[in-house]
Amino acid sequence: MRIVRCECRRLPFDRLLPRARANDWDLAALIRETGCGAQCGLCRPYLRRMLATGETVFHEILTEALPDGAARP
Ligand code: FES
Repeated sequence: MRIVRCECRRLPFDRLLPRARANDWDLAALIRETGCGAQCGLCRPYLRRMLATGETVFHEILTEALPDGAARP
């Protein structure tokens, strides 16, 4: 398994990371400016980790922790 991009926007993480770093984007800003994470949302945990660690290639399934009782949209 190799996860390297937002599938909905077809934008690779290794292109998003330099833009995010150059503009000091947090996850909300990255979503707003690129549309990545704004559709199915499955890439959000990857985007979050990318911003935190600089990783752009993932080999594991990441999911967002939801608060108790919260439903996935
Ligand atoms: S994979 Fe990024 S919004 Fe769907």
